[in-house]
Amino acid sequence: MSFRYQSEPRGLGHAVRCASFATGNEPFFVLLGDYVAPDKKTPSRVKGVSDAHDDAFVIAADACTVDEIPHYGIIAGEPVGNVSDFTGAFGEGEDVVWRMTAMVEKPAAEDVPSRLFAVGRYLLSPRVMELLADQQPGAGNEVQLTDAMVRAMAEEEFYALVIDVHEGYDTGTPAGWIATNARLAANDPRFGVPSRRLWRRKGMAAYLD
Ligand code: G1P
Repeated sequence: MSFRYQSEPRGLGHAVRCASFATGNEPFFVLLGDYVAPDKKTPSRVKGVSDAHDDAFVIAADACTVDEIPHYGIIAGEPVGNVSDFTGAFGEGEDVVWRMTAMVEKPAAEDVPSRLFAVGRYLLSPRVMELLADQQPGAGNEVQLTDAMVRAMAEEEFYALVIDVHEGYDTGTPAGWIATNARLAANDPRFGVPSRRLWRRKGMAAYLD
């Protein structure tokens, strides 16, 4: 394993570009550490979608609320494939896959192409890494991975695998971090029973769902 520290916080796109020494001319995964997906299967599901679509590049996406839209990269596109039970944002037991046509980083809530946001699991092309080299700062005056992906979309196919809201947790806000810990504790073989017992005793019924 190799490490590379980003010397100053210039954005996700810049951080990813710092890893170019390791990716060479190969497709690569970006796995954001502040998004926790406990069963660890999301990257292989993403790879499965890529395999099923001529080695296209694929990200995982999830539905967000209107309030959350300005915090995320929002995708544009349309559902594709055999999604017989497509119900909108979430699939019922079957993968929902979108072919992406665009993506916008941290948009205003009023004018978005969908409610689906990139959750932090990406399978990307070497072209994205190349484009990041001259990517200018975007939203928040940061170098955005999203902006390099949008440029690559002019040349390459991108898909989004829509995952279930229960598959992962964003720890990037205090509330998200607390909720993630509660969910992990509830499902942990060591901490589940004592955590539920404590929550019940303290009247924290909302945690017991
Ligand atoms: C980053 C990405 C954004 C994505 C989000 C997921 O934003 O730029 O597109 O939706 O991660 O957590 P950040 O959390 O760095 O603001």
